[in-house]
Amino acid sequence: MDAHAHEHPNSSPPVAGLLAQFASPEALRAAAAAVRAAGWTRWDVHSPFPIHGIDRAMGLRPSPLPWLVLGAAVVGVVLALAMQLWMNGIDYPLIISGKPLLSLPTSVPIMFELGVLLAAIAAFVGAIALGGLPLYGHPVFFSSRFSRASTDGFFIFLAADDQRFEPISAQALLRSAGAVSVETLQVDEASGRVPGGLYWILATAVVLALLPPVLVTWYRTGPKSNPRIHLIQDMDFQEKYRPQSASPLFADGRATRPTVPETIPQGRLQADEHLYTGKVAEQWVTTFPMQPTAAMMERGRERYGIFCTTCHGLVGEGGVSGITSARAVKRREPNWVLPLSLHTQSVREQPVGQLFHTITHGVRTMPALGAQIPAEDRWAIVLYVRALQRSQNATLDDVPEPIRSQLRPVSP
Ligand code: HEC
Repeated sequence: MDAHAHEHPNSSPPVAGLLAQFASPEALRAAAAAVRAAGWTRWDVHSPFPIHGIDRAMGLRPSPLPWLVLGAAVVGVVLALAMQLWMNGIDYPLIISGKPLLSLPTSVPIMFELGVLLAAIAAFVGAIALGGLPLYGHPVFFSSRFSRASTDGFFIFLAADDQRFEPISAQALLRSAGAVSVETLQVDEASGRVPGGLYWILATAVVLALLPPVLVTWYRTGPKSNPRIHLIQDMDFQEKYRPQSASPLFADGRATRPTVPETIPQGRLQADEHLYTGKVAEQWVTTFPMQPTAAMMERGRERYGIFCTTCHGLVGEGGVSGITSARAVKRREPNWVLPLSLHTQSVREQPVGQLFHTITHGVRTMPALGAQIPAEDRWAIVLYVRALQRSQNATLDDVPEPIRSQLRPVSP
């Protein structure tokens, strides 16, 4: 064969390379070592199963894929952290229960997720790209012998585009390395072309991908069908009455039923004036409707923390000590009224009944909390407010005896 045939496409089909078959994995490994020793760079081996030591025989270096994956993971982690710092800390600060804006622990899940995502994509795309895929055809597939590479054939393919390629000497090399057969493979012009079927698959995928947006646009702008396509119905279209709608079932034609006069819903009887209004005979009560206990005080402390601290602050000094108040002032809310200090003379002198009434119905700009807090808890809060007030206005009489007698007056 003409050594320069592949440079003159008109004389005869150019040579793609030589395919040599070997009898056993051991022979293949020895031959691979020989080809490598001869200095070849553009060649490959094919066998039905992995062969121990073949990488070393071929002189393959470790794949750079792990480094690629590590790099992508680091980029993902850093990107996720930067993104959250920017979004939640700088661009649009989210104040949630006074927690810090820039906090590492809360960012960890997103950092982890983005790190894993980018690493997985890098591994997937990297493995395909480093493997030289997609590859639509290869000269070896034109050898009838080569189908045995998936059962019991062991092959070496020397590519013609290797600088050392010269048919005679390459044949000699393969034969001396123990090849049982050597075949010259021609370049097939069609083998590099994208298979026609792929275009159809791509076109179908594009059409399918366009369907949802087209359908959505159609139903949003086209002639209305009511209700619109509603795949998951839940209980959206069940038979039911809406508030203030008509019903033929009742004589007065109303679906909403008025309360029946002279009746009280079960469990709603509030006969105990003291407990539910904080008044007896139109006078504020000065005592609690139940015996105050340590448990009640603890309950009051907890409920106060939930319902009052956001405005009045932990100690009850009002002003900007509560976080909503601090926020409102920072934002210069025009209609914000500063919550009162619970330690002012007038509030301290109020009977417990009046404090209870304030929590239940609100006062001036303070909202009513009676609907959220059961009466017993409101009394517990009042008890705790009393304790707070005492804590800020303690006198010597409040100090228990063994300690009080040890205190010495401080000269002003
Ligand atoms: C949404 C904010 C807010 C919450 C929550 C809130 N308060 Fe107030 N509170 C205020 C404001 C504002 C005032 C002052 C109202 C005014 O002077 O117009 C006030 C006033 C008061 C007063 C003084 C009433 C008076 O007669 O002058 C008491 C007592 C009081 N709050 C107790 C409480 C207790 C106890 C809780 C929790 C159960 C609570 N507040 C929850 C905003 C709040």
